[in-house]
Amino acid sequence: MGFKPKQIACLCLGIMLGSCQPEVEKKPTPTPVVSYEQHRPRFHFSPPSQWMNDPNGMVYYEGEWHLFYQHYPDSTVWGPMHWGHAVSSDLIHWEHLPIALYPDKLGYIFSGSAVVDHQNTSGLGQNGNPPLIAMFTYHDPVGEKAGDIDFQYQGIAYSNDKGRTWTKYENNPVIPNPGIRDFRDTKVIWDEEHQQWLCVLAAWDHIKIYRSDNLLEWTYLSDFGKEWGSHAGVWECPDLFPITLSGSQKRYWILLLSINPGSSNGGSGTQYFVGQFDGTTFTLDSTFAQAFGTEEAQIPAGTKFADFESGFGEWDVRGEAFGAAPTTSTLPNQEGVQGYLGQAWLNSFHGGDGATGELLSPPFTIERDFINFLIGGGNDKLKLGMELWVDSRMVRNAAGGNNDKLNWIAWDVSEYQGMTAQLRIFDTNIGGWGHIHVDQIMFADEAVRPNLEKAVWLDYGRDNYAGVSWDNAPNDERIFIGWMSNWDYAQVVPTEEWRSAMTLPRTLTLVETGLGPRLASNPISNLSSLRQASHKLPAGPLPPALELPFFPEGTEMMLELGIEEGAWSIELANSLGETYEIGYDAGQNQFYSDRRTSGKTDFSAAFAEKMHVAPRLTSDTTMKVHLFFDVASVELFADDGLTNLTDIFFPNEDFLTATLRYQGSGGTLKKGTVWSLR
Ligand code: FRU
Repeated sequence: MGFKPKQIACLCLGIMLGSCQPEVEKKPTPTPVVSYEQHRPRFHFSPPSQWMNDPNGMVYYEGEWHLFYQHYPDSTVWGPMHWGHAVSSDLIHWEHLPIALYPDKLGYIFSGSAVVDHQNTSGLGQNGNPPLIAMFTYHDPVGEKAGDIDFQYQGIAYSNDKGRTWTKYENNPVIPNPGIRDFRDTKVIWDEEHQQWLCVLAAWDHIKIYRSDNLLEWTYLSDFGKEWGSHAGVWECPDLFPITLSGSQKRYWILLLSINPGSSNGGSGTQYFVGQFDGTTFTLDSTFAQAFGTEEAQIPAGTKFADFESGFGEWDVRGEAFGAAPTTSTLPNQEGVQGYLGQAWLNSFHGGDGATGELLSPPFTIERDFINFLIGGGNDKLKLGMELWVDSRMVRNAAGGNNDKLNWIAWDVSEYQGMTAQLRIFDTNIGGWGHIHVDQIMFADEAVRPNLEKAVWLDYGRDNYAGVSWDNAPNDERIFIGWMSNWDYAQVVPTEEWRSAMTLPRTLTLVETGLGPRLASNPISNLSSLRQASHKLPAGPLPPALELPFFPEGTEMMLELGIEEGAWSIELANSLGETYEIGYDAGQNQFYSDRRTSGKTDFSAAFAEKMHVAPRLTSDTTMKVHLFFDVASVELFADDGLTNLTDIFFPNEDFLTATLRYQGSGGTLKKGTVWSLR
């Protein structure tokens, strides 16, 4: 259908005068029809196909934001790691580029970072242009399988064509392994203050800092972290950078650190530390140090189901890994095992990591609300661990933290009261951390409260892991992106063409709070370019239920609430009766996210076992809430980014409606706007 000449004239005039109706029929701007696979995010980065985990090599150079990522191009589960690649001019619209780094004879390409070598200190630049230098971890699967401990070391690659092609440095590795089994995830920065390159990496339960003048030769400087923060899992993906406290001249240094498992709501998560760096050592800020400490485990009385002190009892034992009897001392080639009770425990290291085996408990009836037990060893729940089976379904599972320390875990099994159940303890993992420890299985009326090392978390949701910041960002901005998933279930989430997405890019700032300096994460400001129509909400007392505008393909909300008591929440729903809820409970002074009835949840027992909670860090009478809903995720930025919560979900049909609910009295909606996103 073409325009008639008269209409064209009128259209032009209409633009100039803003008039001319009703002669021209107003048509909405046509939007291209794009079809998306179910659960494919609309405004979050996701790989074109196959597996993705950590963001890597993030660097800004000549108008382009580079995002590399852990990628396995042959499957939707983790495998030999490559670096996938994409670029963007605005951090929102991404162009996929060919794979940047392939595994080679030194190993898979694990996580790492990239920098612009402005002064060509490495000498790897060409024609007077600075090279891009990527520094990453090589993971040698052959050494790992052979039972070596030095199979992770650091290498570099360089590019002289704006990141399009990369050459591995001929003298790799540039940091050899010093005899530490988990030794990975290099983050490099230029330390302007001390005129040196710094590299931080994770070494099992702490970080190591190295320095260099040329990015090729590295000298060890110091360790940090054995005494601070949570060690409930293995330390991974550190980031270290200076930052100025908002509203002052005061400079601090921030250390971001991901751990898996052991995050605040379970599985993978990112903690951070605020301190100073003197050119050699990172030291915790004294106010910030007050946030730490240990709470001892509290073990409720109960009925002992198995402690393996007098053998396997009636358990059915298969394979070699668990030996001929429960273990009473550390096995050959196994470092000290800690945390078991009594003399004996189950240890599947008979025959080393390569051995496999399984134990099935005699069937039992669930009569009490909790099963409490000690577990340690490998963390890959798909390949090993302990599972609870009820009605031919696996309803709970647990594994260790990639260390030889047994920790308490509690399973709430109240919903299975009266039903017959069986425990399965198995080890099919023949690679690194291919063994498991179990002890002291108890039935109790209360959950055990594990030994807790307090930590400060960047995000309290279950789905923000391994995030670090971009190098060389303009205006000294610190922009962060994380992997929007969790190792507890990342490999089994119900997407078929690809697996996982990244969080929204976030600006990190350091702000003073009643508790001392804390990081605030907020969505980058140009995300507002995605906004389409805005809908103002009526200010006033909060009714018990208020229907909000909602756009399945992308909704942003900014609310200002006055809540002194009660609880508010936003509930998403679809026509199948599936719901997801995010809110705040004034009684507990915490935000919460509940995906237990959000649709597909049974692909993993860990996905929807409980609500996720996040503390509120201010007592401002106005609570600011900023929310982004994509088809399969929510991101909460509360109180100007002081509390973050990122969670994913998989409804069988996209959510269609949102309702703001309030239980309590005196609550008000002071202000509110909802946007549909392009
Ligand atoms: C974090 C991590 C890193 C490692 C990478 C391997 O999720 O385990 O420690 O480099 O993933 O893909």
